[in-house]
Amino acid sequence: MHRDFREETEHGAEPAVTEAVKKRSMMEVELTVNGVPRRLLVDPFESLLYTLRERLNLTGTKEGCDQGTCGACTVLLDGVPVLSCLTPVARCSNRRVTTIEGVAKNGELHPVQKHMVETGGIQCGFCTPGMVMTAVAFLRENPQPDRREIREAISGNLCRCTGYAKIVEAISKAAEEMQS
Ligand code: FES
Ligand code: FES
Repeated sequence: MHRDFREETEHGAEPAVTEAVKKRSMMEVELTVNGVPRRLLVDPFESLLYTLRERLNLTGTKEGCDQGTCGACTVLLDGVPVLSCLTPVARCSNRRVTTIEGVAKNGELHPVQKHMVETGGIQCGFCTPGMVMTAVAFLRENPQPDRREIREAISGNLCRCTGYAKIVEAISKAAEEMQS
């Protein structure tokens, strides 16, 4: 669903008028996505999630609740995790966005990704991209976390499948590997 940050009018607008207004209000944004500079024409009221999935075809970032509660849409903005469903793309101009597609390097999975696979921290996989993005940023800030800190760090990312134990284990193992 395309999240639009404009107030909706009670009666809506004539379709032709809406189209004309939309065209007029498109804006250009420049942002760097996974290290690649992008210049895009966007609706200033669309979410970063919409831009990534619908304009850039980066569908690794998942749309869950679209309301800021599940964490499935987490990406990094200038290295900091944000909920892309609640982030207007207009605020991302001249900033760096990292999505799950940009985490592996030279064909090698990031340790968090690798251990999520190896420990069984992935079942349906829907929460995984957001979970990984949160964990990657968290381990940069806290390279030697204990399990409680890991649980706290991923508390905004909901998983309906795994019960979290395997996910926490995966992040813990990734932290160990990154220290060695
Ligand atoms: S889709 Fe963004 S928090 Fe759920
Ligand atoms: S693995 Fe299915 S929601 Fe987390």
